Amino acid sequence: MFDLIIRNANLPDGRQGFDIGLAGGRIAAIEKSIAATAGEEVDASGRLVSPPFCDPHFHMDATLSLGMPRMNVSGTLLEGIGLWGELRPLLTKEALVERALRYCDLAVSQGLLYIRSHVDTSDPRLVTAEALLEVKEKVAPYIELQLVAFPQDGYYRAPDGVTSLERALDMGVDIVGGIPHFERTMEDGARSVESLCRVAADRGLPVDMHCDETDDPLSRHIETLAAQTVRFGLQGRVAGSHLTSMHSMDNYYVSKLIPLMAEAEINVIPNPLINIMLQGRHDTYPKRRGMTRVRELMAAGLNVSFGHDCVMDPWYSMGSGDMLEVAHMAIHVAQMAGVEDKHKIFDAITVNSAKTMGLEGYGLEVGCKADLIVLQAADVIEALRLKANRLFVIKSGKIISRTAPRISELFLGGRPASIDIGRDYVPSARGR
Ligand code: FE2
Repeated sequence: MFDLIIRNANLPDGRQGFDIGLAGGRIAAIEKSIAATAGEEVDASGRLVSPPFCDPHFHMDATLSLGMPRMNVSGTLLEGIGLWGELRPLLTKEALVERALRYCDLAVSQGLLYIRSHVDTSDPRLVTAEALLEVKEKVAPYIELQLVAFPQDGYYRAPDGVTSLERALDMGVDIVGGIPHFERTMEDGARSVESLCRVAADRGLPVDMHCDETDDPLSRHIETLAAQTVRFGLQGRVAGSHLTSMHSMDNYYVSKLIPLMAEAEINVIPNPLINIMLQGRHDTYPKRRGMTRVRELMAAGLNVSFGHDCVMDPWYSMGSGDMLEVAHMAIHVAQMAGVEDKHKIFDAITVNSAKTMGLEGYGLEVGCKADLIVLQAADVIEALRLKANRLFVIKSGKIISRTAPRISELFLGGRPASIDIGRDYVPSARGR
Protein backbone atom coordinates (compact mmCIF):
# COMPACT_ATOMS: atom_id res chain seq x y z
CA MET A 1 0.00 0.00 0.00
CA PHE A 2 2.89 2.38 0.75
CA ASP A 3 5.99 2.89 -1.39
CA LEU A 4 8.02 4.07 1.58
CA ILE A 5 7.40 4.51 5.30
CA ILE A 6 9.45 6.79 7.54
CA ARG A 7 9.26 5.47 11.12
CA ASN A 8 9.48 7.40 14.39
CA ALA A 9 9.77 10.91 12.95
CA ASN A 10 9.67 14.21 14.81
CA LEU A 11 7.83 16.88 12.85
CA PRO A 12 8.63 20.61 12.57
CA ASP A 13 5.44 21.53 14.48
CA GLY A 14 6.63 19.60 17.55
CA ARG A 15 4.77 16.31 17.06
CA GLN A 16 7.05 13.45 18.08
CA GLY A 17 7.36 9.80 17.12
CA PHE A 18 5.09 9.68 14.08
CA ASP A 19 5.18 7.33 11.09
CA ILE A 20 4.82 8.87 7.64
CA GLY A 21 3.54 6.72 4.78
CA LEU A 22 4.27 7.75 1.18
CA ALA A 23 2.35 6.43 -1.81
CA GLY A 24 1.90 7.54 -5.41
CA GLY A 25 4.23 10.51 -4.97
CA ARG A 26 2.15 11.95 -2.11
CA ILE A 27 2.07 11.77 1.68
CA ALA A 28 -0.64 9.18 2.27
CA ALA A 29 -0.63 8.89 6.08
CA ILE A 30 0.83 10.51 9.17
CA GLU A 31 0.01 8.33 12.16
CA LYS A 32 1.43 7.44 15.54
CA SER A 33 2.03 3.92 14.26
CA ILE A 34 1.38 2.63 10.75
CA ALA A 35 0.66 -1.11 10.93
CA ALA A 36 1.27 -1.76 7.23
CA THR A 37 4.70 -2.38 5.75
CA ALA A 38 6.30 -0.93 2.65
CA GLY A 39 8.88 -1.91 0.06
CA GLU A 40 11.28 0.54 1.66
CA GLU A 41 11.44 1.86 5.21
CA VAL A 42 13.54 4.59 6.80
CA ASP A 43 14.05 4.60 10.57
CA ALA A 44 14.17 8.26 11.60
CA SER A 45 14.62 7.11 15.21
CA GLY A 46 13.36 10.30 16.80
CA ARG A 47 14.96 12.71 14.38
CA LEU A 48 13.43 15.66 12.58
CA VAL A 49 11.63 15.09 9.28
CA SER A 50 10.82 18.24 7.34
CA PRO A 51 9.69 19.24 3.88
CA PRO A 52 12.78 20.04 1.75
CA PHE A 53 14.44 23.42 1.83
CA CYS A 54 13.48 26.06 -0.75
CA ASP A 55 15.85 28.79 -1.92
CA PRO A 56 13.83 31.66 -3.39
CA HIS A 57 16.86 33.72 -4.50
CA PHE A 58 19.93 32.33 -6.26
CA HIS A 59 22.24 33.01 -9.21
CA MET A 60 22.84 29.68 -10.91
CA ASP A 61 24.51 31.25 -13.94
CA ALA A 62 27.31 32.60 -11.73
CA THR A 63 27.65 29.80 -9.19
CA LEU A 64 30.95 27.89 -8.86
CA SER A 65 32.74 30.46 -11.05
CA LEU A 66 34.96 31.68 -8.20
CA GLY A 67 38.31 32.92 -9.50
CA MET A 68 37.12 33.22 -13.13
CA PRO A 69 38.75 35.25 -14.59
CA ARG A 70 40.16 36.63 -11.31
CA MET A 71 39.20 37.07 -7.64
CA ASN A 72 37.14 39.98 -6.24
CA VAL A 73 39.91 41.92 -4.47
CA SER A 74 37.82 44.52 -2.63
CA GLY A 75 35.05 42.03 -1.85
CA THR A 76 32.40 44.63 -2.69
CA LEU A 77 29.11 44.31 -4.56
CA LEU A 78 30.25 46.79 -7.20
CA GLU A 79 33.55 44.99 -7.92
CA GLY A 80 31.55 41.77 -8.08
CA ILE A 81 29.26 43.28 -10.73
CA GLY A 82 32.34 44.54 -12.63
CA LEU A 83 34.00 41.13 -12.39
CA TRP A 84 30.88 39.37 -13.63
CA GLY A 85 30.93 41.82 -16.56
CA GLU A 86 34.48 40.63 -17.37
CA LEU A 87 33.49 36.98 -17.18
CA ARG A 88 30.21 37.29 -19.10
CA PRO A 89 31.63 37.53 -22.66
CA LEU A 90 33.65 34.37 -21.97
CA LEU A 91 30.64 32.28 -20.92
CA THR A 92 29.63 29.29 -23.00
CA LYS A 93 26.39 27.39 -22.78
CA GLU A 94 28.21 24.11 -22.13
CA ALA A 95 30.22 25.51 -19.23
CA LEU A 96 27.14 27.18 -17.73
CA VAL A 97 25.15 23.94 -17.89
CA GLU A 98 28.02 21.96 -16.38
CA ARG A 99 28.45 24.34 -13.41
CA ALA A 100 24.70 24.58 -12.78
CA LEU A 101 24.26 20.81 -12.82
CA ARG A 102 27.14 20.42 -10.40
CA TYR A 103 25.48 22.93 -8.09
CA CYS A 104 22.17 21.06 -8.35
CA ASP A 105 23.91 17.85 -7.23
CA LEU A 106 25.21 19.72 -4.19
CA ALA A 107 21.74 21.17 -3.55
CA VAL A 108 20.15 17.71 -3.58
CA SER A 109 22.67 16.44 -1.04
CA GLN A 110 21.69 19.40 1.18
CA GLY A 111 17.96 18.69 0.91
CA LEU A 112 17.41 21.76 -1.25
CA LEU A 113 14.86 20.73 -3.88
CA TYR A 114 13.23 24.04 -4.87
CA ILE A 115 15.31 26.90 -6.26
CA ARG A 116 14.44 30.24 -7.84
CA SER A 117 17.41 31.47 -9.84
CA HIS A 118 17.93 34.84 -11.45
CA VAL A 119 19.34 34.67 -14.98
CA ASP A 120 21.37 37.61 -16.21
CA THR A 121 19.83 38.92 -19.43
CA SER A 122 22.32 41.78 -19.99
CA ASP A 123 24.30 40.02 -22.74
CA PRO A 124 22.04 39.90 -25.81
CA ARG A 125 23.51 36.50 -26.71
CA LEU A 126 21.30 35.21 -23.86
CA VAL A 127 23.52 32.18 -23.50
CA THR A 128 22.71 32.26 -19.78
CA ALA A 129 18.96 31.89 -20.37
CA GLU A 130 19.51 29.19 -22.97
CA ALA A 131 21.72 27.23 -20.59
CA LEU A 132 19.49 27.52 -17.52
CA LEU A 133 16.35 26.62 -19.47
CA GLU A 134 18.15 23.43 -20.46
CA VAL A 135 19.20 22.85 -16.83
CA LYS A 136 15.62 23.42 -15.65
CA GLU A 137 14.43 20.62 -17.88
CA LYS A 138 17.30 18.30 -16.97
CA VAL A 139 16.86 18.64 -13.19
CA ALA A 140 13.04 18.61 -13.24
CA PRO A 141 12.83 15.03 -11.90
CA TYR A 142 14.52 16.13 -8.66
CA ILE A 143 14.67 19.95 -8.44
CA GLU A 144 11.93 22.43 -9.26
CA LEU A 145 13.83 25.34 -10.77
CA GLN A 146 12.19 28.72 -11.42
CA LEU A 147 13.98 31.31 -13.55
CA VAL A 148 13.86 35.11 -13.28
CA ALA A 149 14.85 37.38 -16.19
CA PHE A 150 17.33 39.63 -14.43
CA PRO A 151 18.75 42.72 -16.15
CA GLN A 152 21.96 42.79 -14.06
CA ASP A 153 23.42 45.85 -15.84
CA GLY A 154 20.13 47.78 -15.66
CA TYR A 155 16.87 47.52 -17.60
CA TYR A 156 17.41 51.02 -19.01
CA ARG A 157 21.13 51.41 -18.26
CA ALA A 158 22.34 48.47 -20.40
CA PRO A 159 22.23 49.08 -24.16
CA ASP A 160 19.95 46.09 -24.89
CA GLY A 161 18.37 45.83 -21.43
CA VAL A 162 14.74 46.18 -22.49
CA THR A 163 14.77 43.92 -25.55
CA SER A 164 16.98 41.23 -24.00
CA LEU A 165 14.63 40.87 -21.04
CA GLU A 166 11.61 40.54 -23.34
CA ARG A 167 13.44 37.96 -25.46
CA ALA A 168 14.34 35.92 -22.38
CA LEU A 169 10.67 35.87 -21.36
CA ASP A 170 9.76 34.80 -24.90
CA MET A 171 12.22 31.92 -24.56
CA GLY A 172 10.30 30.66 -21.50
CA VAL A 173 11.90 32.33 -18.50
CA ASP A 174 9.18 32.35 -15.82
CA ILE A 175 9.46 35.58 -13.84
CA VAL A 176 10.13 39.29 -14.44
CA GLY A 177 13.19 40.67 -12.62
CA GLY A 178 14.67 44.13 -12.19
CA ILE A 179 17.37 46.16 -10.47
CA PRO A 180 16.00 49.69 -10.01
CA HIS A 181 18.76 50.89 -7.64
CA PHE A 182 21.36 50.20 -10.36
CA GLU A 183 19.69 52.35 -13.03
CA ARG A 184 21.39 55.69 -13.74
CA THR A 185 18.98 57.82 -11.68
CA MET A 186 16.25 57.37 -9.07
CA GLU A 187 13.78 58.43 -11.77
CA ASP A 188 15.02 55.74 -14.17
CA GLY A 189 14.79 53.25 -11.32
CA ALA A 190 11.16 54.16 -10.61
CA ARG A 191 10.36 54.09 -14.33
CA SER A 192 11.90 50.60 -14.60
CA VAL A 193 9.71 49.34 -11.74
CA GLU A 194 6.59 50.63 -13.46
CA SER A 195 7.54 49.20 -16.86
CA LEU A 196 8.51 45.81 -15.48
CA CYS A 197 5.27 45.51 -13.47
CA ARG A 198 3.39 46.32 -16.67
CA VAL A 199 5.32 43.61 -18.54
CA ALA A 200 4.44 41.13 -15.79
CA ALA A 201 0.75 42.11 -15.76
CA ASP A 202 0.52 41.88 -19.57
CA ARG A 203 2.15 38.45 -19.63
CA GLY A 204 0.49 37.11 -16.47
CA LEU A 205 3.86 36.52 -14.77
CA PRO A 206 5.14 37.09 -11.22
CA VAL A 207 7.74 39.75 -10.41
CA ASP A 208 10.94 39.32 -8.39
CA MET A 209 13.24 42.32 -8.27
CA HIS A 210 16.59 42.98 -6.71
CA CYS A 211 15.36 46.07 -4.92
CA ASP A 212 17.32 48.66 -2.94
CA GLU A 213 20.39 46.44 -2.44
CA THR A 214 22.28 49.39 -1.01
CA ASP A 215 22.96 51.15 2.30
CA ASP A 216 21.44 54.38 0.95
CA PRO A 217 18.42 55.14 3.15
CA LEU A 218 16.95 57.22 0.33
CA SER A 219 16.83 54.25 -2.04
CA ARG A 220 13.05 53.86 -1.85
CA HIS A 221 12.19 51.75 -4.87
CA ILE A 222 10.34 49.31 -2.62
CA GLU A 223 7.74 52.05 -2.12
CA THR A 224 7.29 52.31 -5.89
CA LEU A 225 7.25 48.51 -6.23
CA ALA A 226 4.48 48.24 -3.63
CA ALA A 227 2.44 51.01 -5.28
CA GLN A 228 2.81 49.54 -8.79
CA THR A 229 1.94 46.08 -7.46
CA VAL A 230 -1.40 47.40 -6.25
CA ARG A 231 -1.93 49.45 -9.42
CA PHE A 232 -1.44 46.43 -11.69
CA GLY A 233 -3.35 44.02 -9.41
CA LEU A 234 -0.27 41.86 -8.75
CA GLN A 235 -0.80 41.49 -4.99
CA GLY A 236 0.91 38.39 -3.57
CA ARG A 237 2.79 37.75 -6.84
CA VAL A 238 5.62 40.24 -6.33
CA ALA A 239 8.86 39.72 -4.43
CA GLY A 240 11.26 42.38 -3.22
CA SER A 241 14.71 40.80 -2.93
CA HIS A 242 17.35 42.20 -0.57
CA LEU A 243 15.65 45.49 0.53
CA THR A 244 18.82 46.31 2.46
CA SER A 245 18.26 50.08 2.33
CA MET A 246 15.37 49.52 4.77
CA HIS A 247 18.04 48.76 7.38
CA SER A 248 19.22 52.37 7.18
CA MET A 249 15.91 54.15 6.56
CA ASP A 250 14.34 56.69 8.86
CA ASN A 251 12.03 54.92 11.33
CA TYR A 252 9.10 57.26 10.73
CA TYR A 253 9.26 56.63 6.99
CA VAL A 254 9.37 52.86 7.59
CA SER A 255 6.25 53.11 9.77
CA LYS A 256 4.39 54.18 6.62
CA LEU A 257 6.27 51.88 4.24
CA ILE A 258 5.66 48.53 5.94
CA PRO A 259 1.83 48.83 5.88
CA LEU A 260 2.07 49.81 2.21
CA MET A 261 4.12 46.66 1.55
CA ALA A 262 1.57 44.61 3.51
CA GLU A 263 -1.26 46.06 1.42
CA ALA A 264 0.61 44.94 -1.73
CA GLU A 265 1.34 41.52 -0.14
CA ILE A 266 4.99 41.84 -1.10
CA ASN A 267 7.09 38.72 -0.54
CA VAL A 268 10.28 39.84 1.18
CA ILE A 269 13.53 37.99 0.41
CA PRO A 270 16.54 38.97 2.52
CA ASN A 271 19.80 37.19 1.71
CA PRO A 272 21.53 37.10 5.11
CA LEU A 273 24.94 35.69 4.07
CA ILE A 274 25.38 38.13 1.22
CA ASN A 275 23.84 41.12 2.99
CA ILE A 276 26.13 40.83 5.99
CA MET A 277 29.12 40.35 3.67
CA LEU A 278 28.46 43.11 1.12
CA GLN A 279 26.58 45.87 2.93
CA GLY A 280 28.09 48.45 5.24
CA ARG A 281 31.28 48.45 3.17
CA HIS A 282 31.50 52.22 3.05
CA ASP A 283 31.09 52.48 6.81
CA THR A 284 34.03 52.75 9.13
CA TYR A 285 32.64 52.16 12.64
CA PRO A 286 29.96 51.63 13.70
CA LYS A 287 29.39 49.36 10.70
CA ARG A 288 25.83 48.65 9.64
CA ARG A 289 24.58 45.07 9.37
CA GLY A 290 22.72 45.84 6.16
CA MET A 291 20.01 43.20 6.43
CA THR A 292 16.43 44.35 6.11
CA ARG A 293 14.07 44.51 9.11
CA VAL A 294 13.14 40.85 9.36
CA ARG A 295 11.46 40.87 12.77
CA GLU A 296 9.37 43.97 12.02
CA LEU A 297 8.30 42.74 8.57
CA MET A 298 7.28 39.36 9.97
CA ALA A 299 5.37 41.05 12.80
CA ALA A 300 3.44 43.09 10.22
CA GLY A 301 2.31 39.85 8.57
CA LEU A 302 4.56 40.02 5.53
CA ASN A 303 5.81 36.76 4.06
CA VAL A 304 9.59 36.71 4.65
CA SER A 305 11.77 34.00 3.12
CA PHE A 306 15.56 33.78 2.99
CA GLY A 307 17.69 33.30 -0.11
CA HIS A 308 21.21 31.89 -0.44
CA ASP A 309 21.92 34.29 -3.35
CA CYS A 310 25.49 33.19 -4.11
CA VAL A 311 27.82 30.22 -3.75
CA MET A 312 31.46 30.63 -4.84
CA ASP A 313 30.98 33.36 -7.41
CA PRO A 314 32.20 36.95 -8.02
CA TRP A 315 30.20 38.24 -5.05
CA TYR A 316 30.71 35.53 -2.44
CA SER A 317 33.63 33.13 -2.06
CA MET A 318 31.85 30.95 0.52
CA GLY A 319 28.64 28.91 0.63
CA SER A 320 27.69 25.27 0.24
CA GLY A 321 24.07 25.18 -0.88
CA ASP A 322 23.05 24.83 2.76
CA MET A 323 19.87 26.71 3.67
CA LEU A 324 20.51 25.93 7.35
CA GLU A 325 23.69 28.01 7.06
CA VAL A 326 21.59 30.83 5.61
CA ALA A 327 19.11 30.53 8.48
CA HIS A 328 21.92 30.29 11.03
CA MET A 329 23.29 33.63 9.82
CA ALA A 330 19.78 35.14 9.82
CA ILE A 331 19.33 34.25 13.49
CA HIS A 332 22.51 36.16 14.32
CA VAL A 333 22.07 39.19 12.07
CA ALA A 334 18.38 39.66 12.93
CA GLN A 335 19.08 38.82 16.58
CA MET A 336 16.19 36.35 16.59
CA ALA A 337 17.38 33.76 19.08
CA GLY A 338 14.16 33.10 21.02
CA VAL A 339 12.39 29.75 20.68
CA GLU A 340 9.49 31.25 18.70
CA ASP A 341 11.95 33.33 16.69
CA LYS A 342 13.84 30.24 15.61
CA HIS A 343 10.67 28.52 14.45
CA LYS A 344 9.91 31.61 12.35
CA ILE A 345 13.42 31.49 10.90
CA PHE A 346 12.98 27.80 10.00
CA ASP A 347 9.67 28.70 8.32
CA ALA A 348 11.58 31.29 6.26
CA ILE A 349 13.62 28.54 4.52
CA THR A 350 10.69 26.15 4.19
CA VAL A 351 6.99 27.11 4.15
CA ASN A 352 7.49 30.84 3.62
CA SER A 353 9.85 30.22 0.70
CA ALA A 354 7.35 27.79 -0.75
CA LYS A 355 4.70 30.53 -0.56
CA THR A 356 7.04 33.05 -2.23
CA MET A 357 7.67 30.56 -5.02
CA GLY A 358 3.97 29.65 -5.31
CA LEU A 359 4.72 25.92 -4.90
CA GLU A 360 1.86 23.46 -5.23
CA GLY A 361 1.53 20.58 -2.75
CA TYR A 362 4.41 21.65 -0.51
CA GLY A 363 4.28 20.72 3.16
CA LEU A 364 4.04 17.94 5.69
CA GLU A 365 0.37 17.05 5.63
CA VAL A 366 -1.55 14.16 4.11
CA GLY A 367 -1.98 14.94 0.40
CA CYS A 368 1.22 16.98 0.09
CA LYS A 369 4.00 15.88 -2.24
CA ALA A 370 6.14 13.00 -0.96
CA ASP A 371 9.22 15.25 -0.81
CA LEU A 372 10.88 15.08 2.63
CA ILE A 373 14.23 15.26 4.37
CA VAL A 374 15.46 13.48 7.50
CA LEU A 375 17.91 15.51 9.57
CA GLN A 376 20.46 14.48 12.20
CA ALA A 377 18.70 16.56 14.84
CA ALA A 378 15.80 16.04 17.21
CA ASP A 379 13.88 19.19 16.30
CA VAL A 380 13.87 22.44 14.36
CA ILE A 381 15.94 24.29 16.93
CA GLU A 382 18.67 21.66 17.00
CA ALA A 383 18.67 21.51 13.19
CA LEU A 384 19.36 25.25 13.09
CA ARG A 385 22.00 25.15 15.83
CA LEU A 386 23.91 22.27 14.28
CA LYS A 387 23.24 22.98 10.61
CA ALA A 388 22.34 19.33 10.88
CA ASN A 389 23.32 16.62 8.43
CA ARG A 390 20.68 15.67 5.90
CA LEU A 391 20.60 11.91 6.45
CA PHE A 392 17.98 11.17 3.80
CA VAL A 393 16.55 13.28 1.00
CA ILE A 394 13.32 11.89 -0.45
CA LYS A 395 11.75 13.06 -3.70
CA SER A 396 8.41 11.71 -4.97
CA GLY A 397 8.58 8.92 -2.39
CA LYS A 398 12.09 7.75 -3.38
CA ILE A 399 15.41 8.22 -1.58
CA ILE A 400 17.62 10.38 -3.83
CA SER A 401 20.43 11.17 -1.38
CA ARG A 402 21.80 9.56 1.75
CA THR A 403 24.50 10.92 4.08
CA ALA A 404 26.12 8.98 6.93
CA PRO A 405 25.37 10.42 10.38
CA ARG A 406 28.20 12.42 11.88
CA ILE A 407 29.37 10.40 14.85
CA SER A 408 32.74 11.01 16.50
CA GLU A 409 34.67 8.26 18.23
CA LEU A 410 36.79 9.48 21.13
CA PHE A 411 39.90 7.81 22.53
CA LEU A 412 40.51 9.33 25.91
CA GLY A 413 42.94 7.46 28.11
CA GLY A 414 41.57 4.04 27.23
CA ARG A 415 37.97 5.15 27.89
CA PRO A 416 36.10 4.56 24.61
CA ALA A 417 33.28 6.97 23.89
CA SER A 418 31.30 8.29 20.98
CA ILE A 419 29.30 11.44 20.35
CA ASP A 420 26.29 11.76 18.07
CA ILE A 421 26.09 15.54 18.04
CA GLY A 422 22.46 15.44 16.93
CA ARG A 423 21.36 13.24 19.82
CA ASP A 424 23.69 13.53 22.81
CA TYR A 425 23.54 17.25 23.49
CA VAL A 426 19.82 17.97 23.15
CA PRO A 427 18.25 19.92 26.01
CA SER A 428 15.90 17.63 27.89
CA ALA A 429 12.98 20.07 27.97
CA ARG A 430 12.14 23.08 25.89
CA GLY A 431 9.00 25.16 26.12
CA ARG A 432 7.69 27.07 23.13
FE1 FE2 B 1 20.86 38.35 -6.05
